[in-house]
Amino acid sequence: MQEEIECTLPPEIKYQLYETSVQCHSADILFINREFKQAYDKAPLSLREDFCGTAIMACDWVCQSQEHLAFAIDIDKCPLEYGLSHHYPKLSSAQQSRMNYVLGNVLDNYSFKTDVVVAFNFSYFVFKKRKELLDYFKKVRKSLNEQGAFFIDLFGGTEAFAPLEEETEHDGHSYYWDCEGYNPLTAECQYYIHFKTHHDGIKHKNAFSYSWRMWTVAELCEILEDAGFSKTITFWEGEDGKGSGDGVFYNTKQAENCESWVTYILALN
Ligand SMILES: C[S@@+](CC[C@H](N)C(=O)[O-])C[C@H]1O[C@@H](n2cnc3c(N)ncnc32)[C@H](O)[C@@H]1O
Repeated sequence: MQEEIECTLPPEIKYQLYETSVQCHSADILFINREFKQAYDKAPLSLREDFCGTAIMACDWVCQSQEHLAFAIDIDKCPLEYGLSHHYPKLSSAQQSRMNYVLGNVLDNYSFKTDVVVAFNFSYFVFKKRKELLDYFKKVRKSLNEQGAFFIDLFGGTEAFAPLEEETEHDGHSYYWDCEGYNPLTAECQYYIHFKTHHDGIKHKNAFSYSWRMWTVAELCEILEDAGFSKTITFWEGEDGKGSGDGVFYNTKQAENCESWVTYILALN
């Protein structure tokens, strides 16, 4: 029998389970490098990772070369502390000197500018009003170098708004993505992440919860353009021939909807 309890897992376990279930930052970095080169014919060197959580991506960013620099911003010190104790110590001292953790709000003004800003894992969905999102996008644009690129991801599909709990098995644990309810009048949706630890069979409910506005690709492109970005580029994932995505995202304006998809938008300064 499965026991279900409200999650009380300590941060060391919670963030480790989150990272192994949700993130694929090495693929994100390859994608950013490829698209930035395509846009500006040079490699991006500086990154601002907004809503960074544990900042695992920013830590990997600075490992690319002696010229790579990263700023990772999160408003919550708990994931930052996890990153500082688990990822930062694995960097050499030279890499550490190029890795900057920032405890703060992505809406604040910062003195540094970067080649790339990313807001991944849909985190900017936290801005539920168009005015708030426009304000955020404007601030991102101001914080980019002249040849700068802003990458966001988003998800959708016919199942994205349906009350549904999707389970994915991992080594030693199960990950659950739980959509509790979509309000068609506000486009707001409540999501939860639960984990089941296999060694004891306990399902730890609501390890993470997200109250989000479900933005569409078209809305986002319009708001990015209103924020002053000169160009927005939309992507779609190729198919592996067995009904799943192949992990390769290509630039297109035309796609066929499906039950569930994740994609990127790139906005150029
Ligand atoms: C969905 S997690 C994403 C973590 C990471 N980016 C990833 O890819 O998995 C959202 C993060 O955004 C942070 N956050 C929410 N609002 C924020 C804000 N206004 N400024 C900075 N961070 C914020 C939360 O503390 C949380 O760590």
